Amino acid sequence: MSFRIPPQPPARPNRCQLFGPGSRPELFEKMAASAADVINLDLEDSVAPDDKDKARANVVEAINGLDWGKKTLSVRINGLDTPYWYRDVVDLLEQTNGRLDAVMIPKAGCEGDIYAVDALVTAVEAASGKDKRIGFEAIIETAAGLAHVEEIAAASPRMESLHLGPADYAAYMGMATTHIGGTQDNYYMLSPKEGDGARQRHYADPWHYPLVAIVAACRTHGLLPVDGPFGDFSDPDGFRAQALRSATLGCVGKWAIHPSQVELSNEIFTPSQAAVDNARAIIAAMEEAKAAGKGAVTYNGKLIDIASIKQAEVIVRQSELIEAQ
Ligand code: COA
Ligand code: MG
Repeated sequence: MSFRIPPQPPARPNRCQLFGPGSRPELFEKMAASAADVINLDLEDSVAPDDKDKARANVVEAINGLDWGKKTLSVRINGLDTPYWYRDVVDLLEQTNGRLDAVMIPKAGCEGDIYAVDALVTAVEAASGKDKRIGFEAIIETAAGLAHVEEIAAASPRMESLHLGPADYAAYMGMATTHIGGTQDNYYMLSPKEGDGARQRHYADPWHYPLVAIVAACRTHGLLPVDGPFGDFSDPDGFRAQALRSATLGCVGKWAIHPSQVELSNEIFTPSQAAVDNARAIIAAMEEAKAAGKGAVTYNGKLIDIASIKQAEVIVRQSELIEAQ
C-alpha cells in the first residue's frame, strides 16, 4: 500500500439512478415510487431549449412537493457552455426546501468546471442560510473529461460520483458508433483464418477504457463510479451484459432511462447470496490460515491469499451497505 490511504466513497447504495425529463412532470411520482436508489430529474439534454424555464419550475415544485423517501435526489443541470446552468443552480438552491441532495454536472471537462459550480453553489447556500451542503455528481462524456478525469475527481470535497455518458462521449471522441452504450456493430475481431472455415466475430467492448479510467479516478479520490445509460430499453439482455461488465470492472451502479431497467440494475449491482456466502467462507478460510501461520492456502481447489480477503471484503461490504438501507 502506498503511504497515502485512499478515502472511502460515500456510504450509500447507488445501484440504479433513474432519469426523467424535467419537462415530463407526470413521470415524477412514478420515479419517486420506483426502486431506484438515486433519482435524477433532468434539466439538460432530455429537455428542449424552449422548455428549459418550465422544466426548472416543474423540478423545483416536485422537489418541494413529493415524498422522495430515502432516495438520493439529484438534478442534472445544464452544461457550463449554455446560458441556462447558473439559473438552474440559483433556483434549485433558493427555491427548494432542503430535500435536494446533489446536482449532476454534465460534460465536465476540467477541474475549473467543478470549481465554477462550487463557487456559485457555495455563495447561494451561504446567502440563503442553508446548513446542508449539496454534493456533486459529474459526467465524463467528452474527450477533455476523459483526459482530465483525475483532476475532476479531486476538484471539490462536494464530489460524490463520476459517470460515463456513452452517447456524448462517442460524439466528442469522433467515434463511428450506432447505439447508446453496449455492443457496437463494427467493433469486433475475427477468429484466426483456418482453412476455408467460416470466421467468427468476437465483439469487443469500446467502453472498457473510459470505464476503467473512471473507476481508477474514483477509487483514488473516494468517489462512486457509475456506468451511464443503455439506450435500447427493449433489449434487457444487452443491458444485463453491459451492467455485468461494468460491475466486474468496479462500478457500483448504472443509470436507468426507463423503469424496465431499474430492477435489472438493482439485481446486478446487489451481490448475490451465493457470492456473499462464498466471500465470507474465503475470509473464514484465511482467518484459519493466518492462525496456522500461513499466508496462502488452497480453497475449493484454488489459491487464496491475503489479497483474496480484500477481494472478498469488497463483496461483503457492498452487501452490508445495501442491507443497512
Ligand atoms: N421514470 C418513471 N416512469 C417512466 C419513465 C421514467 N423515466 N419513463 C416512462 N415511464 C412510465 C410511463 O409513464 C408509463 O407509465 P404507465 O404504465 O403508468 O402509463 C410506463 O413507464 C411505460 O412507459 P413507456 O410508454 O414505455 O415509455 P414512454 O414512451 O412514455 O417514454 C422514454 C419513453 C424513453 C421517452 C422515457 O422513458 C424517458 O423520457 N426516459 C428518460 C430520458 C432521460 O431522462 N434522458 C436523460 C438521461 S440519458
Ligand atoms: Mg450527455
